[in-house]
Amino acid sequence: MALRKIREMGDPVLTRKCKEVTEITPRIQELIDDMFETLYDAEGVGLAAPQVGILKRIVVIDVTGDDPILLINPKILETSGEQEGYEGCLSVPGKSGIVTRPNYVKVLAYDENMKAFELEGTELLARALCHELDHLDGHLYVEKVEGPLVNNEDLRDAEEE
Ligand code: NI
Repeated sequence: MALRKIREMGDPVLTRKCKEVTEITPRIQELIDDMFETLYDAEGVGLAAPQVGILKRIVVIDVTGDDPILLINPKILETSGEQEGYEGCLSVPGKSGIVTRPNYVKVLAYDENMKAFELEGTELLARALCHELDHLDGHLYVEKVEGPLVNNEDLRDAEEE
């Protein structure tokens, strides 16, 4: 396993549409392992393959730090409700902005054996699913931000007051 370099906003790879995965080759398995290692190293909640420069429809998410989720070729089946809150991205380091997302999301995806499964998420998981799936179509959360991007230090200071 190895850490991969996280691409940052401004890198054109983050604006491209990713291709579906057709089979889990050793190269893809290595990519998945590296994506989890890179996610945990960066202390993120989710990471999509284009963020490490690979235009494939692969996402890793862990909203608790102890619940790794791999999604291959994920598709949103259903959404409901609404949540408004701060969102950040490993490709936009140190910043956050307010984004409105569904409060419930149901996704169809494939696992590391290319077996289909459904996943339901609410709150932070629903937000992470929407955010990461957007990456696969070349979209960053900053396109959906209401109001200014803020520095994470300022957010933390505000929370402590
Ligand atoms: Ni992101």
